[in-house]
Amino acid sequence: MLAILLVLNGPNLNLLGTREPEIYGHLTLEQINGQLKGLADELGLELEFFQSNHEGELVDRIHQAVSNVKGILINPGAFTHYSFAIRDALSAVNIPCVEVHLSNIHAREEFRKQSVIAPVCLGQVSGFGALSYLLGLRALADEVY
Ligand code: DQA
Repeated sequence: MLAILLVLNGPNLNLLGTREPEIYGHLTLEQINGQLKGLADELGLELEFFQSNHEGELVDRIHQAVSNVKGILINPGAFTHYSFAIRDALSAVNIPCVEVHLSNIHAREEFRKQSVIAPVCLGQVSGFGALSYLLGLRALADEVY
């Protein structure tokens, strides 16, 4: 059976493509997910995708992951910087996790420099646009096998 990895996206990432393209690029979330699917096929992994603008829905999806998911690739969006609930959910399920960002959060406003999620992840990939997701998926796949 193929290992299942969960790709989670937080608030406002449903607007990719039109949202501040000079920062986040021109690709839609659907296009990024398509690229991830291509890589997953190559690596022999199955992906599930979930995006929500609501913290509690992301927490619920993380809890559900316990039943079948071997790894989580997450762009928590603005929740990166203050969601202790998402951090605690990731800690609680203890599923290997990689955090990704389109923009380089360390080169932007002060409030973006801190991630409360990163300490419970294997690592963080930030600043490479859609490539951050692909690099993150490779790293996660390496960990899962
Ligand atoms: C982001 C960076 C966050 O600071 C921001 O709130 C986002 C997107 C990124 O992918 O660069 O929504 O996570």
